[in-house]
Amino acid sequence: MTEPRIRRPRTAAPVRPGASARTRATRATAGDPFFRHLVTSLRNGVIAVTNDGRVAAVNAPAYRILGLEPSPQDTGRAVSALLAGEPELARVLTRASEGGHLPNRVELRLKSSGRVIGYTLSEVNDEQGTRVGTVMFFKDLTRVEQLEERERLRDRLATLGEMAAAIAHEVKNPLAGIEVMAGVLKRQLSDSREAQATLNDIIHECKLANAIVVEVLEFVRPIRLEMEQHVALGPVLREAVTLASATAHPGKIAVSVDVPADLPEVPGDPNQLRQLFTNLLMNAFEAMEGRGSVAIRVSLARAEDEGEQDQVVIDVQDDGPGISPDVADRVFNPFFTTKPKGTGLGLSIVRKVVDAHDGHIDLRMPPGGGTCFKVSLPATSQ
Ligand SMILES: Nc1ncnc2c1ncn2[C@@H]1O[C@H](COP(=O)(O)OP(=O)(O)O)[C@@H](O)[C@H]1O
Ligand SMILES: [Mg+2]
Repeated sequence: MTEPRIRRPRTAAPVRPGASARTRATRATAGDPFFRHLVTSLRNGVIAVTNDGRVAAVNAPAYRILGLEPSPQDTGRAVSALLAGEPELARVLTRASEGGHLPNRVELRLKSSGRVIGYTLSEVNDEQGTRVGTVMFFKDLTRVEQLEERERLRDRLATLGEMAAAIAHEVKNPLAGIEVMAGVLKRQLSDSREAQATLNDIIHECKLANAIVVEVLEFVRPIRLEMEQHVALGPVLREAVTLASATAHPGKIAVSVDVPADLPEVPGDPNQLRQLFTNLLMNAFEAMEGRGSVAIRVSLARAEDEGEQDQVVIDVQDDGPGISPDVADRVFNPFFTTKPKGTGLGLSIVRKVVDAHDGHIDLRMPPGGGTCFKVSLPATSQ
């Protein structure tokens, strides 16, 4: 498919009425360093290309968003070479620089990182109004997208949650009844070994089903934080280790907790935070099958911009089997599990607690293998 080419007649530059000779004479020229500084100082990503598809300018945010290493040799390179890892983006720019369509406010998912960018393309015209190139302005929308996704999830849960909570409650009672009656039968049939084994299985399955119901309720219940302004993470993390160890037996897994002494506290609900880290640790223990190590490291990330808050960053890293890239973006989805008896709700609850604390959570794959969950929580302002 070829797009209609835009051909502009070479006309004289439109002269602004009232523009005096003096203002024209003092107008900055394209060679003016001010223009370069203007482009490099913009917060949005900027890539400018000439009509022959060569790079005229790339600013630092563009490199950062695209995950490219800046190089002075980039100016003058073919844009398709600079963006070899992002063929879709290269195509949009090349097509535009050939006089094609100039999309406005379009979203595109980057191939290399999965990040979503929003971009706008504009013509670059010289004084005569002749088109000399094309410029793309773009912004990383990942954070915006995450917020929208959370909003959607919250809406879905509001309606779905009520129903699930009602069903879970209804199931809980008969389940307890079955377990009790199985216990009664066990006593009545105390001399039949076969019956004992079967009844033990029934009781075991009842307990499992009950654990699922409890988790579903935990998940769908709207979260109500009992906020405290100064929660010290050290004790919360150590309690989480104790709790997780009691439930998912860690065997020979070594657990280390490293909290700097001068770490600021966080505003939060200590019980919910403990639950959050317990869930992460249980997953680690379950993934590792009794050997390896889990390291919990806490650090402080100072705010980069004014008006932003310092963040306490908690890394929970294990050296287990890791999470394959094709399932990595689904692990936070409710009911996603790779375990035969998993509920797939552990990480959904984690995410819910993190959201309620205005924090965020990322999944990282350490280069040496294993899994790392990075939780950031706003620090208590001092
Ligand atoms: N530390 C980890 N190592 C490997 N896989 C993990 C880890 N944490 C979570 N996962 C994966 O994420 C999935 C979802 O976890 P979760 O929501 O807690 O549900 P569940 O534990 O019931 O499966 C797990 O089934 C597992 O595949
Ligand atoms: Mg789990």
